[in-house]
Amino acid sequence: MKKASYLLIASFAVLAACKTTKETTTTTAAPEPKKTDCSGSAYTYAANIKPILNESCNGCHGPVKKRGGLDFTIDEVLYSEARSGKLVCAINQNKGCEAMPQYNPKLSDDKIKMIECWVNSGMNK
Ligand code: HEC
Repeated sequence: MKKASYLLIASFAVLAACKTTKETTTTTAAPEPKKTDCSGSAYTYAANIKPILNESCNGCHGPVKKRGGLDFTIDEVLYSEARSGKLVCAINQNKGCEAMPQYNPKLSDDKIKMIECWVNSGMNK
């Protein structure tokens, strides 16, 4: 009986050790939040962002359709989506927001980076 309890304790110890190891591994294995290198970038709305939005977004997010209630030709709407993080979340198709552009292929890495860096650097006109 005594032997059995030792065994029981031992197996709990092993189990606990496994659990701890597993948790640590999971934490380390989780994908690192992608850090976008924006150094040296100076994107502006007029030169860089507007063309992307016009081409890929504003067919649904313009004065005519306003999908999701969002018209990105209105500065306040665009800036508020950008500040809330939804814009960057949506184009990266991360969890916690709707993946954009809806029904269309994901934007190229270059365009995603441009939008992200524009947002991070204070959304220059
Ligand atoms: C084919 C139509 C369509 C296109 C193209 C499109 N969107 Fe959307 N978008 C929607 C709809 C519909 C919603 C509302 C989704 C919902 O709430 O279910 C939405 C919601 C959003 C939201 C809010 C997401 C959230 O989770 O709150 C953002 C930000 C957004 N779109 C950005 C974009 C951007 C940036 C592009 C271009 C790269 C784009 N969308 C292209 C239809 C579109």
